[in-house]
Amino acid sequence: MPLMTSVEDLRVLHQRRVPRMFYDYAEAGSWTETTLRRNRDAFKGLQLRQRVAVDMSERSLTSSMLGAQWSLPVGLAATGLAGMQHADGEILAAQAAEQFGVPFALSTMSICSLEDVAAHTQKPFWFQLYIMKDRDFVAGLIERAKAARCSALVLTLDLQILGQRYKDLKNGMTAPPRFTLKNMLDMALRPRWCAGMLRTRRRNFANIVGHAKGVDTLDSLSQWSAQQLDPTMCWDDVAWVRDLWGGKLILKGIMDPRDAKMAVDVGADALIVSNHGGRQLDGAPATIEVLPQIVEAVRSHPDGQALEIWLDGGIRSGQDVFRALALGAQGTFIGKAFLHGLGALGAQGVTRVLEIIAQDLDLTLAFCGLTDVKDIDASVIWQK
Ligand SMILES: Cc1cc2nc3c(=O)[nH]c(=O)nc-3n(C[C@H](O)[C@H](O)[C@H](O)COP(=O)(O)O)c2cc1C
Repeated sequence: MPLMTSVEDLRVLHQRRVPRMFYDYAEAGSWTETTLRRNRDAFKGLQLRQRVAVDMSERSLTSSMLGAQWSLPVGLAATGLAGMQHADGEILAAQAAEQFGVPFALSTMSICSLEDVAAHTQKPFWFQLYIMKDRDFVAGLIERAKAARCSALVLTLDLQILGQRYKDLKNGMTAPPRFTLKNMLDMALRPRWCAGMLRTRRRNFANIVGHAKGVDTLDSLSQWSAQQLDPTMCWDDVAWVRDLWGGKLILKGIMDPRDAKMAVDVGADALIVSNHGGRQLDGAPATIEVLPQIVEAVRSHPDGQALEIWLDGGIRSGQDVFRALALGAQGTFIGKAFLHGLGALGAQGVTRVLEIIAQDLDLTLAFCGLTDVKDIDASVIWQK
């Protein structure tokens, strides 16, 4: 196995090893994929300020999010169907995150269930929730997240309706996936992936099947998923979730300063500046482009000092993390980057992605004359 030196190396291996419908599902953006690309490109436009002759021998990447200490200001974002990128994917990713000392958020649309991930990890993880039409089911999920000792709830707000992802439509990538002849032939060409899937019993949406009313089979799951996104969801529903949950609440999908102020008003503990990795509103700006406005809106709010501001979207290296921290994020999350590691090499691949990001971040810190990630601020960005 050649040495994996960058996230791109892992992406290439991911593409080779995982059936096209699942690889494309991870990589796809909505419509023209302009926002997907913009998330990446906007980072490149931020040039860094090199410093010299500074004692950079002792360096620290230790960061705090929600009052806990993490080895890196980077967490694994909630991603649906991670268990289809690699057999038992969510369990492996949660274990890798735990070992590395970074947060892991389990998606509502995971393959491994809340209870299963809890049974295979030692430390609490986070649970990501969608507000679906069946509010009893949502309330049940919240109770299950409590019972699984999740330490924070990530409430995703940007999926009241589904963005059109052409690749998914063409590949039959629905919930559940459609196993057409073409897809089956493609799977047969990925023997390592097939062997993993045959070995595991985890091949379904385990948070949903057997828990949501009338969802016991793959067919009923398909009908249920198509109907459950709730276009009526509003801030009252967010308050309802906050009260039911009663613990640390993170609001994900904030891209507008007005919504950031609402996040303060509703009493959230953190928000994630996110456009769902370019998978929902195509034509939206990159997350790193809107971050400064969100920071300004929150910090100028009379009650906005305590709310933590995090960012995801387009992060593929420690340098991207560095730039996000420079523009005011206190933490960052990776979606596709960790899925590349998972699809390529399972838990080992997720660890490798985190190592690559940590090393990039550490060296960039030093080149910019700093020794602690907590000291990164806007002065490290070159102003023309
Ligand atoms: C394959 C995939 C599935 C995702 N599923 C979810 C999900 O179930 N819930 C959610 O809140 N966000 C989901 N997201 C969005 C991620 O949490 C995150 O916002 C995004 O991946 C960040 O962008 P990046 O992929 O460029 O790092 C998903 C992203 C991907 C790539």
